[in-house]
Amino acid sequence: MDLKISYSTKGLENEAIESLIVFLPEKSDTRAAGLSSLAETQKKLINSAIKEEIFNGKTGSSLCLITGSSKPSQLLLVGIGKRDELNAETLRRAAGTAGKLLSGSKLKSVGVMLTNVLSTAGGKECGQSVSEGLQLGAYDFKSYKSSVNKDPKYIKIRILDKDSISNSNAVKHGALRAVSANLARTLGNTPGNDMNPGKLADEAKKICKSEGLEFKVLEEKEMKKLGMGMLLGVSQGSVSPGKLIFMEYKHPEAEETLALVGKGVTFDSGGISLKPGKTMDEMKFDMCGSAAVLGTMNAVAQMRPKLNIIGVVPATENLPGGNAQRPGDIVTAYNGKKVEILNTDAEGRLILGDALSYTIEQYKPDAVVDLATLTGACVVALGNHASGALSNHKELMERVSLAGEKSGDRVWELPNFPEYGELLKGKYGDLQNIGGPSAGTITGGKFLEHFVGDTPWVHLDIAGTAWNVKYVDYHPATGATGVGVRLLIDLISEWRPLN
Ligand code: BES
Ligand code: ZN
Ligand code: MG
Repeated sequence: MDLKISYSTKGLENEAIESLIVFLPEKSDTRAAGLSSLAETQKKLINSAIKEEIFNGKTGSSLCLITGSSKPSQLLLVGIGKRDELNAETLRRAAGTAGKLLSGSKLKSVGVMLTNVLSTAGGKECGQSVSEGLQLGAYDFKSYKSSVNKDPKYIKIRILDKDSISNSNAVKHGALRAVSANLARTLGNTPGNDMNPGKLADEAKKICKSEGLEFKVLEEKEMKKLGMGMLLGVSQGSVSPGKLIFMEYKHPEAEETLALVGKGVTFDSGGISLKPGKTMDEMKFDMCGSAAVLGTMNAVAQMRPKLNIIGVVPATENLPGGNAQRPGDIVTAYNGKKVEILNTDAEGRLILGDALSYTIEQYKPDAVVDLATLTGACVVALGNHASGALSNHKELMERVSLAGEKSGDRVWELPNFPEYGELLKGKYGDLQNIGGPSAGTITGGKFLEHFVGDTPWVHLDIAGTAWNVKYVDYHPATGATGVGVRLLIDLISEWRPLN
């Protein structure tokens, strides 16, 4: 369910709403929670629900109260946990719980009360956490449900802030972050028959057209001329032609350029090194890195930061077919390196390698971040609650980690020791595309490092965080999470030249 979120400093009495969301911490009552402006009858209802332990304010808890005649006729209590543990992320999660409840309701118009308790979660920015969490939590992916949908298309949300706890910009920004992450989720959730490289390019073009960004695609013919043997080697197994997509945001006063590169494998069967069948359907999500780039570019166009940003997506399918790449094939990368393909399922690093070296040569970015569902090993190492990271630049890595913490898209750095790189030395060529069973996420990143040179770079392996993330209330239980979008927005918002 989509939410149309707006901000108001007027009192509750001026709003025509059916339901009012109020956030309550543990061990609280209406007075301690800053809800004194509610009608007496409503305060009584809430306080007796707390007293009788029907509602306890714990994270994830909620209670709907029917108020009878008094307006609004419904109160939705949502727990925010312990007061001293409240921060941007816990508040965002509580708002996510509220958003999930809204998306399953028939409501058309809902108010959300901001109270001084919430301002302990980042001061004026608490309005951002609330709108972001609501919009993320309310997301559902129903495009392929044929049952006639009589529900309203969206719910009107009024963020009520009579005491100026937050401000209109924070609320708007939170909504933009969530809408952009939701866009990435929908791209990720769309099945492979409707999301091939051409379709992904169309979606990128659509964003560029409507948001005023420059758009460019390199087709296979041009890639051949340029010598992008790694990208072409992967895409040759599919009848859907591969694409190398560029989305460019420019600011007239920008002094620096940031490149964002996202893996866009719209379906990964493994190729000739075919994957087992059991969960192969999930490999429609192998373009979630690219979805993060598209979602971020959508947000960037509206934020207009003083920084040039180039979004790059190598897009291809990885299929076995009569013309598919074979294990043992040796291809020549755009940067001239000869690469032995020992496993056609290690395709992400191949397409990213060509995209990275071309982007760095053409656009000379001051920093590069790539995002990719690169290795199953990353899911083994970190599960679903941190993306793996590898970097050649301490300061950029620290900034990405901070943005990860701030946004909730948490990352965990892995050691970039040179010894790991030895595992990638080729028998016949310069490099091989797999490093064997140990340290699979690190060797995947190490492979990419051959294509970035000295440019400050962070690689994010989002294999475990891009879909099916449980226990985070603003994420859907199944499907794409939109990971990376909010992290990149935070990284970009605070951008300043690297030392
Ligand atoms: N898309 C996969 C990685 C993946 C697997 C992500 C499972 C999420 C869940 C990637 O293209 C791949 O297949 N990588 C191989 C690399 C290996 C052959 C070195 C892998 O992880 O098995
Ligand atoms: Zn893949
Ligand atoms: Mg693969």
